[in-house]
Amino acid sequence: MRTIPIDDFDDWRSVARGLIASNAPPAEIQLVENDGQQSLFATGADNYAKDTNTSSFRVPREFISLAKTIGYHRNANRWNLLYRTLWRLKNEQPHLLEIETDADVHRLSTMEKQVRRDAHKMKAFVRFRKVEREGKVFFVAWHQPDHRIVRRVAPFFSRRFAGMNWTILTPDESVTWDQQTLQYGSGVTRSEAPDSDELEDLWRTYYAHIFNPARVKVKMMKSEMPVRFWKNLPEADIIADLLADAPRRVDEMIEQHEGFDQTAIDFIPSVGDQTITLDTLKEMATECMACDLHQSATQTVFGVGPANAKIVLLGEQPGDQEDIVGTPFVGPAGKILDEAFSAAGLDRENLYLTNTVKHFKHTVSTDSTPKGKRRLHQKPNSREIRCCRPWFDAEWSCLEDAKVLVCLGVTAMTAIMGPGRKLSDTRGRFVETDYCNRTLVTWHPSAILRSHNESAREEKMQQLILDLSVACAGC
Ligand code: URA
Repeated sequence: MRTIPIDDFDDWRSVARGLIASNAPPAEIQLVENDGQQSLFATGADNYAKDTNTSSFRVPREFISLAKTIGYHRNANRWNLLYRTLWRLKNEQPHLLEIETDADVHRLSTMEKQVRRDAHKMKAFVRFRKVEREGKVFFVAWHQPDHRIVRRVAPFFSRRFAGMNWTILTPDESVTWDQQTLQYGSGVTRSEAPDSDELEDLWRTYYAHIFNPARVKVKMMKSEMPVRFWKNLPEADIIADLLADAPRRVDEMIEQHEGFDQTAIDFIPSVGDQTITLDTLKEMATECMACDLHQSATQTVFGVGPANAKIVLLGEQPGDQEDIVGTPFVGPAGKILDEAFSAAGLDRENLYLTNTVKHFKHTVSTDSTPKGKRRLHQKPNSREIRCCRPWFDAEWSCLEDAKVLVCLGVTAMTAIMGPGRKLSDTRGRFVETDYCNRTLVTWHPSAILRSHNESAREEKMQQLILDLSVACAGC
């Protein structure tokens, strides 16, 4: 048996290429986590040259993406499982991944879902605290993910909060964004940061030091610890010592007990709560007052559909009728969608339908109709969209089987993909986003209703049907 330490996915890929090229049977290989000790025990790894590039075997792209995700799983056996699957793909079953009942495939798919769900939870539930120091504002958060997902999720936060200086602390590692680069550092264990008051202190002090890593590594360490101890001390211990001594160094720090702007996150059940379901979220959302839209709306209109939906459709916001009934897409736009669903062979019952903003934003018209004053739709602004986003994040994290995310219209597209895209350039093809590697943009049904003439209407309708068929084929 050969034992080979693995650092991360890239390392695994390189090792696995070498092993496959030399046709090394999985039963003879033990791939273990490289915790810095393993190289002492590694035996025979050199027999399997890394990345020889001699193999003509083409690894399915789907497997690479699966393996990349599973690389973030905490299960120590994941590298072996991945290698065994790779070996079987090459030597036994080129279509192995299609056999859902296969024990390895099933295990991989479960692990992939666990990582994805954990990443969604992190995106949804990380709560930043505002810290001011020397006139600068920083944001710090503590989070305890189930898996080693910090490096997977950090780029998402750097895009989402590009213009902020922030740090996320987790037991595995920390990550700091200084508006330019992501820097990774040691983890902070829960026992080092047990309760809220201490956590506040931890955030303040840790941030004060981690934000300028040069200062942490050199100046602070020199002043706090004899140099001869450095190489033997795990970094976590150094940080613990720094933290223990740090409060006196950050006397000017003003902690403000708030996140960024208020968002729906304050109405969502606690971090990492595994019992959260779509039903509990829906219940919580009835209380949402994160922005002002709840004041003029009749009720929160939460998403509908089964938790195992494979296709998720994201609209803009409820309209007049949805606001009254409390269900998305029951008005005129919903009728268009229903037509398109049936033409594309989709059953509404199997889909999850929700909106970017969960309250109806409108003004009341000045002229009266026989039915009273009309309520006129208004587009939600970017603050309202940002405020409401944690609800979609939380919904998405419950939708474990979701394979395709369909953004209906510009508001949903911008909320998911960020600004600067034209719908007509983006629609109809899968795009990878932070939520889903099969995100598809299509017309909002209201755009079809608003078409200037019948032929424009028909063209958009056919495109909507086509796009929904693409979504269907993507599951
Ligand atoms: N338009 C939307 O975007 N969502 C609805 O629920 C209704 C109309």
